[in-house]
Amino acid sequence: MTERSTKTSLYDDLADSLNGLLQGEPDFVANLANMSALLYHGLGSVNWVGWYLLKGETLVLGPFQGKPACLRIPIGKGVCGSAVARAAPILVPDVHEFPGHIACDAASQSELVIPLVLEGRILGVLDLDSPEIGRFDAEDLAGCAALVRIFIEHQRVWPHEIARLLD
Ligand code: SME
Repeated sequence: MTERSTKTSLYDDLADSLNGLLQGEPDFVANLANMSALLYHGLGSVNWVGWYLLKGETLVLGPFQGKPACLRIPIGKGVCGSAVARAAPILVPDVHEFPGHIACDAASQSELVIPLVLEGRILGVLDLDSPEIGRFDAEDLAGCAALVRIFIEHQRVWPHEIARLLD
């Protein structure tokens, strides 16, 4: 039997912690806030973790951990806006190589962005920044995407919150 990688166990532990944090709480913003804190303190070598929420054609800054950041990102701009335009996660090993990357914190060297999708609609993105080039790999992408799915599956349990989010 092969041993699980350290990253796989880390994401398994984060999934357990996330389930615990979300348990019993319907409020979307409160849950976004706690998830960003969990990842910021749990992942290591990250300088910014948080959410941008889609309002019309623009991503607007949501709950996050890290330095103050850009408030609004149009769809198609930067890594976050490109992830919305492509409706897919984007892994950027070196932000200097990503055309149009928006530098909110000059310390950021690599980035991972995962769309938050409910009932086929993109509600926003989870954005993770690292001060290390190549910090995120395919395991991080899969791990973070799984955590975002846990988050959305949890929110689906609360119909009044879903109705509000899809309004
Ligand atoms: N780098 C992002 C902007 C958001 S900050 O990293 C917090 C982008 O290019 O979309």
